[in-house]
Amino acid sequence: MDASLSAGGARDLPVMLQALDGHVPRRTPVWMMRQAGRYLPEYRAVREKAGDFLTLCYTPDHAVEVTLQPIRRFGFDAAILFSDILVVPHALGCPLTFEAGEGPRLVPVRNGAELAALRDELDPGKIGRVLETVARVRAALPVETALLGFCGAPWTVATYIVAGRGTPDQAPARLAALTDPVFFTALIDRLVETSARYLVGQLKAGADAVQIFDSWAGVLDPESFRRWSIAPVRRIVEMVRAEVPGARIIAFPKGATLSGLTELVQATGVEGVGLDWTADRRATRLALGARCALQGNLDPLALIAGGAALDASIDALLADFRGAAHVFNLGHGIRPETPIAHVEQMIARIRGGG
Ligand code: CP3
Repeated sequence: MDASLSAGGARDLPVMLQALDGHVPRRTPVWMMRQAGRYLPEYRAVREKAGDFLTLCYTPDHAVEVTLQPIRRFGFDAAILFSDILVVPHALGCPLTFEAGEGPRLVPVRNGAELAALRDELDPGKIGRVLETVARVRAALPVETALLGFCGAPWTVATYIVAGRGTPDQAPARLAALTDPVFFTALIDRLVETSARYLVGQLKAGADAVQIFDSWAGVLDPESFRRWSIAPVRRIVEMVRAEVPGARIIAFPKGATLSGLTELVQATGVEGVGLDWTADRRATRLALGARCALQGNLDPLALIAGGAALDASIDALLADFRGAAHVFNLGHGIRPETPIAHVEQMIARIRGGG
């Protein structure tokens, strides 16, 4: 990895993209998973106006606004498209609702016959609105702020499709993979193809990089992780690169082991890998720091705790990644009960003012 910033105008790139291009950025880029969300009063106000969560996702006026809110308030180095990973199954024809305090509910797809009733392609009437949001956000963002698109990894999206909801260890999808591998493979294949096209659409609409969220990677044994997490993500990466040469891609396989992460990075060649808060930072840096950017991994609970505990967590994290192509992030999404003052404290500490 080239640590110098002299070549090819890299010095002018947003710091987020410097890191993804393998440089040590001129300052540490910072953004937060779920940075637009319920911890912000201005988000709650738009959410109330929009009515329900999916309407918010599919209404560009609202989605653009909430994407930009955390950038205006905190000056993060990256904005992430406001949408949801479950927009993909929804646009394939799975009925989806979000009940307050209960999370997503889908009509489950449990076998080949139910899969056959879904669309082959994402409904352009739904996805077109998301892509319009991407283009409008990019046009509204400062040049130094990168725009991230995203999708769920096929495995994680499949866990919600098969169970119809989140479950503690995603047993329904794990069981379907064992009892009906023909169906499960066809489901994963459908998600690979549609997710790759979706990411290509986002990149062409103006996203500077994309992140693939595999939030449930951690429930898989090593062989299943290769088959259901790494292999589909690798195919998405290949399809995206075929259409968008030089696309920057971050994988976030939450709960993956270090050997799993290493295999994933080797197999896919992603530019960045997201670490959850349990990751061994120094061991991960030693194994992967020369191959890709490392993103993470503050415990979202440290951000709730605030005070000296937050400062100490941030200092340890920054020390472990000093001199690396590092992107500061949380190890998972920010929780709704997080005080805004603690986010301000975090940013000041990272940028040297705290
Ligand atoms: O990060 C961002 O700010 C961008 C927007 C974004 C959301 N969801 C908004 C959202 C992104 C990138 C996601 C990804 C997502 N969605 C994941 C992967 C990351 C992760 O958290 O593991 C998953 C598993 C989902 C599915 C999902 N969406 C669940 C399980 C829930 C309910 C739990 C919850 O936090 O409410 C959602 C709803 C959701 N997605 C909300 C937001 C802001 C809350 C909806 C509301 O306003 O009521």
